[in-house]
Amino acid sequence: MLEDWLAEIRAAPSLEALEAIRVRLLGKKGELTQRLKGLGKLPPEARREEGRRLNEAKRALEAAIESRAGELKEEALARRLAAEAQDVTLPGLPFPAGNLHVLTQVLGELVGIFERMGYRAVLGPEAEEEFYNFDALNIPPHHPARDMHDTFWLKPAEGFEARFPRPLLLRTHTSPIQVRYMSTHTPPFKIVAPGKVFRHEATDATHEAMFHQLEGLVVGERITLADLKGALLAMARALYGPQARVNFRPSYFPFVEPGVEFEVWWENPRTGRGQWLELGGAGMVHPEVFRAVDELREEKGLAPLYRGMTGFAFGLGVERIAMLRYQVPDIRAFFQNRLAFLNQFREEV
Ligand code: DAH
Repeated sequence: MLEDWLAEIRAAPSLEALEAIRVRLLGKKGELTQRLKGLGKLPPEARREEGRRLNEAKRALEAAIESRAGELKEEALARRLAAEAQDVTLPGLPFPAGNLHVLTQVLGELVGIFERMGYRAVLGPEAEEEFYNFDALNIPPHHPARDMHDTFWLKPAEGFEARFPRPLLLRTHTSPIQVRYMSTHTPPFKIVAPGKVFRHEATDATHEAMFHQLEGLVVGERITLADLKGALLAMARALYGPQARVNFRPSYFPFVEPGVEFEVWWENPRTGRGQWLELGGAGMVHPEVFRAVDELREEKGLAPLYRGMTGFAFGLGVERIAMLRYQVPDIRAFFQNRLAFLNQFREEV
């Protein structure tokens, strides 16, 4: 009898089934409980012997139930762990890394070249005041140079006119940063200023309404045109190698005198053939610009420091350098945001 019960307990398929067996055997009206209660009806000698036997059986059943319950609980836990398992070794969803725009890369390279020569990189606002973009750069109203810079004018939103008492425009070049920097800094210094510029022009393969320039400005005592040429030659060699040369052609910009357009001699390493690349404008800072800066400084309560100073400035087009380097035939490709184009310029990481 006991062996059958023990076998039944060991085979109980679930905790519920095991509990049912326990109640049936050891519950208030359980089979073994009934027998224990029936002990009193036995003669005294048989009662002792049977009592010992039944109590032993009860302990054996209780131990078996406890051990089977432990097994069943462990099995249930193992099943739950298996069912709820997370495979953390599954590969994740691909998350493509971003990349600097090709023009940002070229601008960064240019800024780096000048930083290694001791220049500081500074920034100016894209929404600029007419004064900094034109007047202070010796381009007074009605000056023909203003026509050459077809300008996007900004109109304050209705109700905000008082916040913007002076006319704002999208800067047509990075040269206004020259005036901004000089109005708050003491010479001597060397700066470059990269950034976006805007022209209200029809677009074609070589013209965009938005493009990038790098402006340079060096001010100190006895700065000469030779210093300008040396700086641009160093840049050209860093960009195109030791064979690079720089040529100046006389030109006119209101804020420099003399003014030049500069071109760089570039030899194609594959064909060995060379050509002159026109990269930008440059010159010696015009005395009128220094005068306007000093006037502005005095308005701000700062000492005028620029009368009699010397300096050179240059400005170059970044798209042009990138187009020549990567044989991009159409400037508009830079701003169409087509990944098939942009992904050609992914940097190795
Ligand atoms: N700001 C001129 C432009 O956008 C370029 C330029 C010419 C910049 C001569 C200069 C300079 O600093 O000296 O066309």
